[in-house]
Amino acid sequence: MLIRWLTATLLVTGLLLLGTAYWVQAAPPGQSAEEGEALFQQYCAGCHTVGGGDLSGPDLLGVADRRDRDWLEHWLAEPDTMIAEGDPIALQLLAQYNNVPMPNQHLSLSEIDALLAYLGAPESAHPAEPAQGAALAGNAEAGKDLFTGAQAFANGGTACIACHDTAALGAPGGGLLGPDLTQAAQRYGGEAGLTGVLGTIAFPSMVPIYQNRPLAPQEQVDLAAFLASSAGEAAPSRGVRHATLYLLAFGAMDVFLVGLFIWHRRLPRAGRRLSARR
Ligand code: HEC
Ligand code: HEC
Repeated sequence: MLIRWLTATLLVTGLLLLGTAYWVQAAPPGQSAEEGEALFQQYCAGCHTVGGGDLSGPDLLGVADRRDRDWLEHWLAEPDTMIAEGDPIALQLLAQYNNVPMPNQHLSLSEIDALLAYLGAPESAHPAEPAQGAALAGNAEAGKDLFTGAQAFANGGTACIACHDTAALGAPGGGLLGPDLTQAAQRYGGEAGLTGVLGTIAFPSMVPIYQNRPLAPQEQVDLAAFLASSAGEAAPSRGVRHATLYLLAFGAMDVFLVGLFIWHRRLPRAGRRLSARR
């Protein structure tokens, strides 16, 4: 009876683990003009048409010919910042459209790609584009806080430590679901390259988490600075980490089993004592 119950518990735990793994592996949606059209209806159609004339915002027919792709990407990502920073095109448009500022809708990069595909802007090579990050300086300490979750992400993404380890962390280290990131900066072209990668986050396992909770530009450079700080160090040994985890898990199970066993044996005795007293 005890054994059957334990087997059932183990089975359920196993299934739960499997389920999580599948959820994390779920494939990302592609970015297509079709998706862009749906996003446009949802986020933009209140102020814009494509070929139907001006509303409170300009008609966007042919906008891809008027503006270059970088400007459009930047504009869709943070129109408020561009206006605040005095981008000449943004200011001119603002004046032209009755000083109605276009709101920042916190679109993810994949949403922006889809919207631009719909608006007819040709795809540019993404990865080598630290455009927003280039001017920002990364702070490794701030990056560490973001990595560990001591500081929450502005858009609410999961702390990286849940799935990643790096030598820059030290013991007890981070999660094992994702690859060790000790060499991440070297692999992705240094701090600047890694910043670009963190801006896009195209890793399938991470897309479902960060797609709608993109890392802010400052967060990208801070994380890149933190991850670059371990360049050249040896990655923490996963073998040892795995072994420790398994030992811990089995240790916990043993304590549980022994406890269950003792409890089981005490019950009848307690019952006997009770009935003896009666
Ligand atoms: C609340 C109204 C509003 C919403 C919603 C809105 N916009 Fe705008 N948009 C504007 C206004 C107004 C301008 C002109 C610049 C300004 O005044 O800030 C503009 C400018 C633009 C431009 C530049 C046009 C040009 O001629 O260069 C693009 C591109 C654009 N918007 C795309 C979008 C997309 C894509 C969305 C949806 C994700 C969107 N906008 C949502 C109001 C809006
Ligand atoms: C839910 C788990 C999870 C979280 C949270 C997560 N990652 Fe990942 N990450 C992965 C997995 C799994 C991979 C391996 C590629 C894949 O399967 O998508 C990966 C790949 C990477 C890579 C490429 C590594 C390589 O060796 O090529 C980098 C860099 C990275 N993640 C950085 C981060 C950062 C920075 C954060 C925090 C903002 C983060 N990840 C959060 C699971 C996660």
